[in-house]
Amino acid sequence: MTATPNALATGPAGPVHRIHPAEVPGALVKPGAAPILKATDVEKWFQMNHVLKGCSMTVYPAETITILGRSGSGKSTFLRCLNFLEEPSAGVVDIDGIRVAGDPLRSRSRQTKERIRQLRLAAGMVFQEFNLFPHLSVIGNLIEAPLHVKKMHKAEATELAEGYLEKVGLIDKRDEYPSRLSGGQRQRVAIARALTMQPKILLFDEPTSALDPSLVGEVLKVMESLAHEGRTMIVVTHEMSFAKEAADRVYYMHEGEFIEIGPPDQVLANPHDERTRTFLRRFLDV
Ligand SMILES: Nc1ncnc2c1ncn2[C@@H]1O[C@H](COP(=O)(O)OP(=O)(O)OP(=O)(O)O)[C@@H](O)[C@H]1O
Ligand SMILES: [Mg+2]
Repeated sequence: MTATPNALATGPAGPVHRIHPAEVPGALVKPGAAPILKATDVEKWFQMNHVLKGCSMTVYPAETITILGRSGSGKSTFLRCLNFLEEPSAGVVDIDGIRVAGDPLRSRSRQTKERIRQLRLAAGMVFQEFNLFPHLSVIGNLIEAPLHVKKMHKAEATELAEGYLEKVGLIDKRDEYPSRLSGGQRQRVAIARALTMQPKILLFDEPTSALDPSLVGEVLKVMESLAHEGRTMIVVTHEMSFAKEAADRVYYMHEGEFIEIGPPDQVLANPHDERTRTFLRRFLDV
């Protein structure tokens, strides 16, 4: 094999993915299904700041995962590393067989750049701040990426988008502009927009934390229905009710490491780690 600058990082050897004993397939996973996402020893440095210290995660199709942790523990950075919005300094991400290794030198071949593009299509992201285009109507926001990124025909994209607007209960706002929607409605549009790209897995970064408390419920309801219909989702949230109701597994992140992994019943009600317990005391009576 010819040695290339990133041969180590991208070579077939790479770090070996180990499935944590608590990573047992959730209730909706078809028997024998292989993981759809494997993150292996993901590391992230921001200059001298070691933000992710070897984070691994296994997700099976149809599972809902929640990540909890204090502010600054690295939750958003981990989520962003999964679809290479942030470049992992080391480690490997594999989503639906699309495998990309972190490469601090960023000496990417054309093939690797193409795999990163595919990884981003496979993992749709919903942000705290919605990020809708203000100059486009709701339907315009939904079909923009399918038309320009996926090169879908307009009629097909529109039909798909309308279906997802129905799903989030906003078909009557089809031609409205984002500025004339409530925060909860904007976030539901952002969810429909992510769905219109038909990703294999949906990543949510605190999707309700910018909302007025009275609007949180309508967004959580949509997310719970997606979880129950078997969408694959990873959700960073402080909404313990969502974690309890909808998650197959909870990952507690502390200073860049997943220090506790388990079903919500265990992690939320009976945390083994004192640091998880201290965090949860602020939310729950444990
Ligand atoms: N682009 C960046 N450049 C430099 N440092 C960053 C960058 N993004 C995040 N960090 C640092 O990485 C650490 C983890 O940040 P991150 O946003 O992942 O935390 P978080 O767990 O999502 O927190 P929060 O709950 O407040 O959203 C913090 O110390 C933060 O300052
Ligand atoms: Mg964050």
